[in-house]
Amino acid sequence: MKNQEYIAILGRQPELGLVELESVLGAEQVEVFGRQAALIAEAVHADRLGGAMKVAEVLYRGPLTSLRNLPIDVAELPMRSEGKTPFAISAYGFKDTPKMLMAAGLELKKSLRARGNGSVRLVMASKGLAVSAAELHHNRVIEDGFELLVVASRSEMVIARTLGVQDIDWYSRRDYDRPVRSAKVGMLPPKLAQILVNSVQAQTVYDPFCGTGVIPQEALLLGRTASGSDLSDEMVTATRINLEWLGHQVSQKLPKWQADLADARQVVLPRGCAVVSEGYLGPNLIHAPTPAELTSIRRELQPLYMEALKSWAAQLPSGAEVSICVPAWHIGKVWHYLGLIDELPRLGYTLKSFRGVSAPLLYARADQVVGRQLLLLRKN
Ligand SMILES: C[S@@+](CC[C@H](N)C(=O)[O-])C[C@H]1O[C@@H](n2cnc3c(N)ncnc32)[C@H](O)[C@@H]1O
Repeated sequence: MKNQEYIAILGRQPELGLVELESVLGAEQVEVFGRQAALIAEAVHADRLGGAMKVAEVLYRGPLTSLRNLPIDVAELPMRSEGKTPFAISAYGFKDTPKMLMAAGLELKKSLRARGNGSVRLVMASKGLAVSAAELHHNRVIEDGFELLVVASRSEMVIARTLGVQDIDWYSRRDYDRPVRSAKVGMLPPKLAQILVNSVQAQTVYDPFCGTGVIPQEALLLGRTASGSDLSDEMVTATRINLEWLGHQVSQKLPKWQADLADARQVVLPRGCAVVSEGYLGPNLIHAPTPAELTSIRRELQPLYMEALKSWAAQLPSGAEVSICVPAWHIGKVWHYLGLIDELPRLGYTLKSFRGVSAPLLYARADQVVGRQLLLLRKN
């Protein structure tokens, strides 16, 4: 394994962040560190990753100590020559109280002051032990100062300096400010779309269930050519309007895109593409379906996916990638799946495996009835 010089703080579902990092960097460049972080061999900007909130440069890796005795070399930390330097300290994987972290922050402030050049201002998390992206932006911590991350695994500790943080305002604009949104087809969070796009290598991404176009949107922002199609005329128009809008939101010229009317089971895929999609999730459910309802939903959806996957397999070359979200249902405390995994060999696909994660990959909130299972596949 290479020397892992950077650390990524993973999002709400760390396993999805790990899958993304392994896809982008290669499994041997990623080392799980504690429950919410991964050491990585290359710096990737957090904005290009849906599953990492912060990416930082490792300054120290060694045995775990208490927050009171952090082995920090203050001479390494950047201070402004004029004006106040804002700095923040965030801890991950520690059981200590915010008060303990505050004490560590104040200790550090004292040492920085003793360095003599300029004054410093300590920014602490308003809640918990980690300063949020919003708090960092608001206090210009990364621009004018620095944030230190203290990350614990079972027996080790990493101290790192944040290089980049996800731009949450921009995520929110491309989620909520798009001209066409649709509660009916469901809203795919841009971060999840980014994870799906990052899970494939191809330069061209095709979304055969494009809906309002979140996947093509995120693919274009990641520099991929993107096209999509949908069975509904209204949705094709929605994608077109949203992607036109996207073009006006960014200073760079977007790669080429296209949206057409087509049935996912009969669509002609562009040469060399990877299929990245969130398929039809069935009815919007507020309450868990009864066994009879679940049987009837499955009966409707299974053939749709089987036919679509079969038709794509007939067109894709060996090694081509398909990353698709399909529905899963939360009933009682158990997740029920569509049952496609057993069919994959017959359909001509292999489920990809990841070093730091075991299947099934699920994107869901605890209170949701319909979640999304991620099928990350390779054509045999
Ligand atoms: C869950 S939504 C996708 C939402 C999308 N990710 C977005 O960003 O808005 C599923 C989409 O599949 C479309 N759909 C359903 N059956 C289809 C089929 N057989 N072929 C193509 N599209 C289909 C629906 O019209 C709907 O827009």
